[in-house]
Amino acid sequence: MIAYFNGEFIDKDKVAISPDDRGFLFADGIYEVVRSFHGKLFRTQDHIRRLERNAREMRFARAEFGELPEVAERLIAENGLTKDSAIVYIQVTRGVAPRSHRFPPADTPLTVFADARPFPSNDADLESGVGAILVPDERWSRCDIKTVALLPNTLAHQKAKEAGALEAIFVRDGAVQEGTHSNVFIVSRGELITPPLCNYILAGITRQTVLEICDKLCIPCHERTVFEDELHKAHELLLAGTTVDVTPVVKLDGKPVGSGAPGPITRRVQEAFFEASERRAG
Ligand code: PDD
Repeated sequence: MIAYFNGEFIDKDKVAISPDDRGFLFADGIYEVVRSFHGKLFRTQDHIRRLERNAREMRFARAEFGELPEVAERLIAENGLTKDSAIVYIQVTRGVAPRSHRFPPADTPLTVFADARPFPSNDADLESGVGAILVPDERWSRCDIKTVALLPNTLAHQKAKEAGALEAIFVRDGAVQEGTHSNVFIVSRGELITPPLCNYILAGITRQTVLEICDKLCIPCHERTVFEDELHKAHELLLAGTTVDVTPVVKLDGKPVGSGAPGPITRRVQEAFFEASERRAG
């Protein structure tokens, strides 16, 4: 596969990341995952804008990545990924410098890496729904920054996998936050509700797409705190994210959500999401 590394397109096997890279030493890096359907990237500009915002929050020496949409397109094309679904992974770190907690000199180039790969089908999950578990939120308090420091997420996700579930949902002080790699919506009395943006959750691009869909379809939708007990009583529950699309959750901690099958509002949102992402085209 061809990858992008510091301005060049090269064989992925030839990419050599230094052991002094701050991404390796300190998880001092940020990332994005962009989805493509039939060769067409979905909301790339939004992903790059979020990356740039995060670079500013991280106080990186550079926070403009105008070259990356074209890089993403070229990775999809050159790797022959225009037929089905694929993902482009982008990671930017503070660069290479001898290990020291303080930032390296401002002229230290950032490390910029991107690659692309086929995305395995998640049709069965989208159709039948998945299970989720609740876990205590043990992450730091800047979850709005999409950093590569994902250890609490991977530990929680592994726990979900071992429980036969697809996602673990973080709960902090009784309030539902988000999944390990997705945002969360509940349906209660015909209304969609999702936790508001704050420092404890990522401003998901898919979450934003769902909000826009609700607006367009006149589905009542609110951004407000969702408490743990509301999750157990919800009629429907859904996950939104680049790698889960709009996935119904039909089991929570082993118990059925609502009727135990994907609900009507989830289906409407899902259908509109497939249309918006042109998933079914081609
Ligand atoms: N994760 N919340 C968290 C913690 C995430 O890691 C993600 C995405 C989301 C959904 O954001 P978006 O809709 O912009 O993909 C919410 C990516 C896909 C990942 O880590 O693989």
